[in-house]
Amino acid sequence: MNSPSLLPFLSALSLLSVAAASTAYPSIPGTDAGDCSLTGSETTDLPPPPRREVYDNGRIFDISHRYVPEMPVFDSDKGLGQFLWLPKSMKNGSRANNSEFKLGVHTGTHVDAPGHFYDNYYDAGFDVDTLDLEVLNGLALLVDVPRDSNITAEVMKSLYIPKGVRRVLFRTLNTDRRLMFKKEFDSSYVGFKEDGAKWLVENTDIKLVGVDYLSAASYDHSVQSHLVFLESREIILVEGLKLDDVPAGIYSLRCLPLRLVGSEASPIRCILIR
Ligand SMILES: *[C@@H]1O[C@H](CO)[C@@H](O)[C@H](O)[C@H]1NC(C)=O
Ligand SMILES: *[C@@H]1O[C@H](CO)[C@@H](O)[C@H](O)[C@H]1NC(C)=O
Ligand SMILES: *[C@@H]1O[C@H](CO)[C@@H](O)[C@H](O)[C@H]1NC(C)=O
Repeated sequence: MNSPSLLPFLSALSLLSVAAASTAYPSIPGTDAGDCSLTGSETTDLPPPPRREVYDNGRIFDISHRYVPEMPVFDSDKGLGQFLWLPKSMKNGSRANNSEFKLGVHTGTHVDAPGHFYDNYYDAGFDVDTLDLEVLNGLALLVDVPRDSNITAEVMKSLYIPKGVRRVLFRTLNTDRRLMFKKEFDSSYVGFKEDGAKWLVENTDIKLVGVDYLSAASYDHSVQSHLVFLESREIILVEGLKLDDVPAGIYSLRCLPLRLVGSEASPIRCILIR
């Protein structure tokens, strides 16, 4: 991102993103005043807490999905289901409420480690705790992928992502179809075909690949594309991002996974800052 040749590109993009500043907020389920599904059924004197997608007057975008029972899980039509319990509750005489959760590590917005598709990397300890926070944090480009295709070599070429760009979030038809808000897994989602992944590895400096459904790889190339991305152990895949209503452009990206030792993935909180 430090390449001087990028400067005209960057300023053009920031102009673009100002022009495109979203008027559509909020369009995320759970944020409407009328949608009380997350606030519980008890009556209380307190007004419901705000649930936000943007902070600080549109400067900070939350691009992680909420964990809710209705969210999709890879290859399942049942959705996540109950994942949170309250074994100790004040209503039952405990001094405090203490909840527990159980969650697949690839649930919702999450990050993959090299051990996900390489058993030798898994055995050698390349877990999510070993991912480079420098790659997960820094300038990132949010681009729109042509909506009529998976991410092929051809599509990658057509995006003209300049050399030097190290983090790219790919917004696709998945966002328009609101797939992350549908309980049933949809295998027709858009992702990287093997040739698209290869093209990225061979022709760009991208080290962080962000996508807007549960897998960076298209369903029919699940294994092949992951193998291409993860082989070098230099590329980090952030999957299931919430890119709705965020103008395309350059942002400061912050992504922090949990330090799950021994795990090949982790839920991750990602934000974009203008
Ligand atoms: C947790 O504690 C608060 C405060 O006492 C109470 O209002 C709330 O209902 C409790 N939650 C549950 C699920 O018991
Ligand atoms: C309180 O404990 C009872 C009996 O173990 C259980 O049936 C009930 O669900 C508990 N309530 C809460 C709010 O945890
Ligand atoms: C992307 O590929 C999947 C197969 O993995 C297919 O079902 C889907 O229709 C393709 N989407 C587009 C927009 O071409």
